[in-house]
Amino acid sequence: MNIQELVRDIPDFPKPGIIFKDITPLLANSEALVHCADRLAGLCPTDIKIDKVIGIEARGFILGGMIAQRLGAGFIPVRKKGKLPSKVNSKSYGLEYGEDILEIHMDAIKAGEHILIHDDVLATGGTAQAVCELVEELGGTVVQCNFIMELDFLNGREKLKTTVASLLSY
Ligand code: PRP
Repeated sequence: MNIQELVRDIPDFPKPGIIFKDITPLLANSEALVHCADRLAGLCPTDIKIDKVIGIEARGFILGGMIAQRLGAGFIPVRKKGKLPSKVNSKSYGLEYGEDILEIHMDAIKAGEHILIHDDVLATGGTAQAVCELVEELGGTVVQCNFIMELDFLNGREKLKTTVASLLSY
């Protein structure tokens, strides 16, 4: 199945000069949605039992839950600052302009658990790197970071100290 044709370019979003890769047509296609979840779950290491899948707000939640279901794992949301109700571990990370903060519940991971991190896009890698650090600080081990797509030219993969898998590269 050709999922690339279901990712559309939106020029000048979110600001002039940027071409945004919009996955909403892919998400709206039932066959493509199942195909992506099956393939991403299939790319996970099979020699380690993954205890929990992290989905990164916001677009990482969609396939993150589907991958967790396929792996028989739990699901953990990593959210932007102020959205999680219980005690959190926070991490600031660099954006193109300025910085933002991601949070995880402190009791979301038990020491020694194996964690898969999922997001829709790997760009500069700052977001996924921050989430890897949150996992490690709670005593978890990141087994893999996986993505629907990867923007190769931004070299985000080099920032991550773990295995990286993605379905599409640009
Ligand atoms: C986008 C994307 C990833 C991140 C990747 O999220 O969904 O989470 O950027 O960029 P990076 O590799 O350069 O860190 P965004 O920050 O736009 O948040 P959103 O999903 O809540 O819109």
